[in-house]
Amino acid sequence: MEQGPPGVDLSQPNPARMYDYALGGAHNFAIDRDAFDRLAEIDPDAPLVGRTNRAFLRRAVRYCLDQGVRQFLDLGSGIPTEGNVHEIAQTAAPDARVVYVDNEPVAVSHTRQILRDNDRADIVPADMRDVRGVLAAPETRRQLDLDQPVALMMVAVLHYVSDQDDPAAIIAAYRDRLPPGSVLVLSHTTSDQANPHLVAELRRLFGDSPNPVAHRTKAEVRALLDGTQLVEPGLVWTPLWRPDGRELLDDEPHRSGTYAAVAAL
Ligand SMILES: C[S@@+](CC[C@H](N)C(=O)[O-])C[C@H]1O[C@@H](n2cnc3c(N)ncnc32)[C@H](O)[C@@H]1O
Repeated sequence: MEQGPPGVDLSQPNPARMYDYALGGAHNFAIDRDAFDRLAEIDPDAPLVGRTNRAFLRRAVRYCLDQGVRQFLDLGSGIPTEGNVHEIAQTAAPDARVVYVDNEPVAVSHTRQILRDNDRADIVPADMRDVRGVLAAPETRRQLDLDQPVALMMVAVLHYVSDQDDPAAIIAAYRDRLPPGSVLVLSHTTSDQANPHLVAELRRLFGDSPNPVAHRTKAEVRALLDGTQLVEPGLVWTPLWRPDGRELLDDEPHRSGTYAAVAAL
């Protein structure tokens, strides 16, 4: 078996590193690449899913900036790739502050590396389900003023939170700590119109791992957003959330396999 850096488990593929591979990144290992290639054999759209999701993230960050939000808490931020939140935000608003959160060691170490000269962005190595821990972390306290609006980013991460861990309660716990004017940015993998072979393969890969994938229906994702006020166009296939004219899959948006929404908290 390939040897990874200390603390990196190479006994099974990891979603952060598979996603990095899907986006053309270099921070992944053979076990991740093999697993993703197998998914892409089952569903040739698999490589497009990450790209449509990243494009949504870019549009949503710009929306938050347009609303005057200058602080971003990006939960499950992933391995840095093109168009990271701090790059989009600080290009438009140099004073913007960003806190990334991820529990995957490769994501944490590469994020630290690219942020070493940036004193307005940081990463908390934590499980985003630990709301108190994330909000009390020294990096969060250093960067964010929790009395000012925050964009709470949960982009392609809540499908790693099982029903037993109550994702709606996690959203509510963050919401309770954030002031008016804060915004939730969410995208979520769905089982609606999903290829059953793909769902079965993901279950086989991750079913008994710390990261089982919870595909949810549109109604189930909508229920996670109860208590928030969705901004137009509501909860939609990812390419249809305020497209800016260069969206992949906008003619067959269900092929993105992902719903997206932005809501006032
Ligand atoms: C599919 S990637 C999404 C990355 C980025 N948010 C995006 O949309 O491009 C999901 C990320 O969530 C992270 N993740 C999954 N469960 C997590 C948890 N409980 N706490 C923190 N990070 C988590 C994974 O390590 C991975 O980096």
